[in-house]
Amino acid sequence: MSGFVRARGTFAALATAGAAVTALLAAPSAVAAPQPVVGGSTTTTGAYPFVMQITDASQNQFCGGTLVSPTKVVTAAHCMAGETPRSVRVVGGRTYRNGTDGTVVRVDRIWVHPGYTRVTDGDDVAVLTLSAPMPHTPVKYVSSSDTSVYAAGTTARVLGWGTTRENGAASQQLRTATVPVVSDASCRGSYGSGFVASDMVCAGLASGGVDTCQGDSGGPLVIGGVLAGITSWGEGCARAGQPGVYSRLTTFSGLVAAQVASQPRARDT
Ligand code: ARG
Repeated sequence: MSGFVRARGTFAALATAGAAVTALLAAPSAVAAPQPVVGGSTTTTGAYPFVMQITDASQNQFCGGTLVSPTKVVTAAHCMAGETPRSVRVVGGRTYRNGTDGTVVRVDRIWVHPGYTRVTDGDDVAVLTLSAPMPHTPVKYVSSSDTSVYAAGTTARVLGWGTTRENGAASQQLRTATVPVVSDASCRGSYGSGFVASDMVCAGLASGGVDTCQGDSGGPLVIGGVLAGITSWGEGCARAGQPGVYSRLTTFSGLVAAQVASQPRARDT
């Protein structure tokens, strides 16, 4: 059973395994007392206007995303599994999951890294092209030469509407927390060959307690005011010695830049 709560699936996929997870968590010795994840505090899209909800056609949030230009949103490839441009919406400026405010924009095109497979979770990056400009301020993303942003101990900010504890309920309000970047050697110690240093970077406290969790995937890891990672996976959430794993955006920034530069085909009128 090892790894069965490994948080690599989408929020929806994980929900189906919920009963088994609940059974494990009910055992007093299974895990430490549940910790709030994204453990920091509630915030607003006014404070972080580049944070987007990725929703289904009924505007139910299932992942996060980051606005990097008026019409381009970076998210996780695993968030787009089974999705089509018609099945997803991007919602900006909506602090609450159940809000009706903000801007709902359709998607013209979904680019998923061609190397992405669920087998390794590497290459977990996707770029959505919006059908209309999002009237919110984008954030810059790292360039491929910015590799020093991942120095161990550097403070990174995470954001999302995901669950506030492992196997818990999704947050109604956007939350944010800061977590230190973990060295590749340490993350390799946590995850072995599951950690692919060329594609991934880890962040979290050694003692756990603060982390992203289910539903936060696709959302931003911001370092020094610049998008540097994409929430991807972890073993459970906020566990000691099991940091969150983020797509290492410096590896993908050339590919992302090409997507950001490419304009959608003229649509039929
Ligand atoms: N894969 C999850 C999602 O789809 C994100 C999990 C992040 N887990 C963690 N421990 N940091 O929402």
